[in-house]
Amino acid sequence: MDVGAGDGRLLRQLLDLGFPGSRLLGVDVRPAPPGLPVQWIQGRAPECVPAVRGLLFAHEFLDDVAVDVVAGDHVLTTDGQPARRISRREQDWLRRWASDGSQVVGLRRDQVWAQLVAKVEGEAIAVDFMGGAPVGHRRGRRTQASLCPETDLCAGVDLRACRAATGGRLIPQHRVFADVRGLSASQSAQLRVLRDRSGLGGFGWLFTDRSSVGSPA
Ligand SMILES: C[S@@+](CC[C@H](N)C(=O)[O-])C[C@H]1O[C@@H](n2cnc3c(N)ncnc32)[C@H](O)[C@@H]1O
Repeated sequence: MDVGAGDGRLLRQLLDLGFPGSRLLGVDVRPAPPGLPVQWIQGRAPECVPAVRGLLFAHEFLDDVAVDVVAGDHVLTTDGQPARRISRREQDWLRRWASDGSQVVGLRRDQVWAQLVAKVEGEAIAVDFMGGAPVGHRRGRRTQASLCPETDLCAGVDLRACRAATGGRLIPQHRVFADVRGLSASQSAQLRVLRDRSGLGGFGWLFTDRSSVGSPA
């Protein structure tokens, strides 16, 4: 199951590798991509995600789950105004995880991840960019975080906090791909990009094994 499956690219690649479409499931708020012979649920995760036996994969899904940004002891509205006082739980979260002073509370992401993991018998893997401070994107390029309407605002996922909610192993992407060998020049070039520690290689992979669920103690 691919949660936040987007345009179905990963599922298409798995089909090309010979995986049967009947065993592949995409979940997204977007409609099923046309001409993709897999199962598809159009809905909001984690609520719409069914119980699954197998692998749940979430690539750049958790960064789409909204965070709260704090200034002083207030949580801000989306236009940067104080909305309400920060709760004790949010304070604790910031103290534990935001040592970089990012003022971004990722509590909801931890909860969404825990809800997803609870649906799985098998393995759940989240892959995302890390680091808490908000960043902006404008026309595909990274820019300063600002509240101007043309800028997409996002904050990296604290997968350490997600791991604290579910257990699991957190491994940087450059290590996940450390032993993979490219079979062609273009594959080797792709691997170099995926392992680049200052870029995609800095993504985190959170592996959460749920294979013992339901087995006798
Ligand atoms: C950054 S894209 C990643 C797409 C794909 N996994 C990839 O790596 O190319 C995030 C996807 O998550 C979907 N999404 C965001 N929030 C969602 C939610 N609550 N439930 C289901 N899908 C969601 C978006 O529609 C989008 O397709």
